[in-house]
Amino acid sequence: MGKEYKRTLVTCALPYANGPVHIGHLAGVYVPADIYVRYLRMRGNDVLFICGSDEHGVPITISAKKSGCTPQDIVDKYHKIIKESFAGLGINFDIYSRTSSEIHAETSSGFFRKLYDEGKFIEKESEQYYDEEARTFLADRYIVGTCPKCGNEGAYGDQCEKCGSTLSPDELINPKSALSGSQPVKKKTRHWYLPLDRYEPWLKEWILENHKEWRTNVYGQCKSWLDGGLQPRAVSRDLDWGVPVPVEGAEGKVLYVWFDAPIGYISNTKELLPSSWEKWWKSEDTRLVHFIGKDNIVFHCIVFPSMLKAYGGYILPDNVPANEFLNLEGRKISTSRNWAVWLNEYLKDFPGQEDVLRYVLCANAPETKDNDFTWKDFQSRNNSELVAILGNFVNRAVVLTHKYFDGRVPANTRPEPVDSEILGQIPALKKSVEENIENYKFREALKEAMNIARLGNKYLTDTEPWKVAKTDMDRTASILNVSLQICADLAVVFEPFLPFSAERLRKILNVGIDAGLDHRSGEEGTCGENIFGPGECAALHTGHPDTASSPILTWEDLGREDILPQGHRLGEAVLLFSKIEDSTVEAQVNRLEETRLANEAAAKAEEAMKAAPQKPECTFDDFSKMDIRTATVLEAERVPKTDKLLKLTIDTGIDRRTIVSGIAGYYTPEQMLGRQICILANLQPRKIRGIESKGMILMAKQPDGKMRFITPAEVLANGSEVG
Ligand code: MF3
Ligand code: ZN
Repeated sequence: MGKEYKRTLVTCALPYANGPVHIGHLAGVYVPADIYVRYLRMRGNDVLFICGSDEHGVPITISAKKSGCTPQDIVDKYHKIIKESFAGLGINFDIYSRTSSEIHAETSSGFFRKLYDEGKFIEKESEQYYDEEARTFLADRYIVGTCPKCGNEGAYGDQCEKCGSTLSPDELINPKSALSGSQPVKKKTRHWYLPLDRYEPWLKEWILENHKEWRTNVYGQCKSWLDGGLQPRAVSRDLDWGVPVPVEGAEGKVLYVWFDAPIGYISNTKELLPSSWEKWWKSEDTRLVHFIGKDNIVFHCIVFPSMLKAYGGYILPDNVPANEFLNLEGRKISTSRNWAVWLNEYLKDFPGQEDVLRYVLCANAPETKDNDFTWKDFQSRNNSELVAILGNFVNRAVVLTHKYFDGRVPANTRPEPVDSEILGQIPALKKSVEENIENYKFREALKEAMNIARLGNKYLTDTEPWKVAKTDMDRTASILNVSLQICADLAVVFEPFLPFSAERLRKILNVGIDAGLDHRSGEEGTCGENIFGPGECAALHTGHPDTASSPILTWEDLGREDILPQGHRLGEAVLLFSKIEDSTVEAQVNRLEETRLANEAAAKAEEAMKAAPQKPECTFDDFSKMDIRTATVLEAERVPKTDKLLKLTIDTGIDRRTIVSGIAGYYTPEQMLGRQICILANLQPRKIRGIESKGMILMAKQPDGKMRFITPAEVLANGSEVG
């Protein structure tokens, strides 16, 4: 780990409280961070684990407008959902707070004010788009126009979602305000900028020279930013949602969300530890690690460190292990298109199987490149790895011990070379798990942990205690003793990765664990809630009356050959994992397929809307002149010598009448018979090919130009007025 530190501060990107958390977030940020924290704590490190909701920014105000509520309503809703779902997956932050809190407003505002007072900002006037109808400056997201690159008419002022280009509002062709639809005008406004260019030489040395060990994707992104030359960045916005800019004359301005959000790490620490937070942020013997996704790299490696440097006295991140993206069934995860597996829904759909998701997301973590999550892979990793290897090994060892030795760890009096051959491999695997985790290679670490279970399985298959038991009970005892020691290894090594299963396993083995200290209840380190053995307080090592004799496992026990003493009584044998059936994953795949179809239909509908712009306004009077009715087709025949015309006899509820309609290109007479349709009943009669037509059949034009009927979804009385 390089430098020796006294404590480690781990932060996770604050998720926007604009929707639930999905598997992409989890694989990229939260699962690896949680593994890291649990591991360090087991190794006796003092670790603080900080997260919270990011509750400011323009997209939240847009969501609020769309759902007709306030931004506060939106963030209240999602903060609760996100917080509960993290806890449901065993991701136990010491604090999960929020950036709409009082203490955050104070902290971020004070941070800005100090930089302002010390002249660390540049103040600049610039011209920005202003909506005169709505009387407000327009955030980039609130300006819609035609993308100069691909012609998409719905591109935003910051980005075209169709071709993915990053845009500035000035590049949009024919910009419109998303608030009022009016054409925005340019108006002068004053903002504060952090002159990143001034920090460039320092950043170059700090990152490019002193942090060559950072992941290549992180280092590479930083290098390309730094090589390209940094520009001053605005840290304020004209918006009414956020932390107000604490400067006179700055009414209607708030801190830019990317200025206040990372300060949220600090405010949340302060909220939890009001009198000792500074040692976590200002002491050189604290290691700071930011877990983030790749889209956050520039903010955590360049902007936030420059802010901290400008302020002075703060430590900087020792590492920023950013992950790439996780795709879902071959497509990019998209919140707006509902192309995601949402954590809160997963927890509902798969109760008791939290660890399966943790396992799959870690085994498939996009550490060096984008990766794909598929339900098929989810199922097969569960069935052929968790169930068939880990669960199966533990179950065989424990069930046989109950069967032959009354559930007590038997004596190891008849060792054979194969035993030490197997056990002798564990220390190397342990070391590999440690090194991989310490180097943020969680996938590899998990693989090595799994290899311990594989060893166990192989050992049982090779030694066949169920056969040996027929002739040699002493040797059977040795085999099971060795197997149970490996089970205890697994209870230790899987605690960071699969905490729920590790806990179940400890119940089965009737042991506790020393999972280290957490800080969930404030100033003093306390013991966690999830992580004890039977009744034992892991942190304090105090014996528990019921289980005073049960071993309390520590990370250091991993690889010892006598973790469980002879005679130790096991708990009940329960299954650690259960098979996931085809029908279960099919249901998930079907849900996604429905989403995909709905998205396609929506895209089509959008296209169709483009084909026909809305007509000029009409009044209610105009509309009410039209007598629209439901009716049924009684007879239908082609009008001779025409391609397009059908002569229809219609029951209108008022009368029976003839309508000639140009639909023969879309429907045959047979297809028309008995159909219920909508008609404009009071259209002036006119003669078509010598036939008097009274009224018109209402049709909808499809994107491909085809005409379709408007048929009521259920059979209605003929002559019902539509309006
Ligand atoms: N909300 C941001 C995102 O989801 C992350 C903010 S991280 C913080 O991309 F450092 F700013 F808090
Ligand atoms: Zn485009």
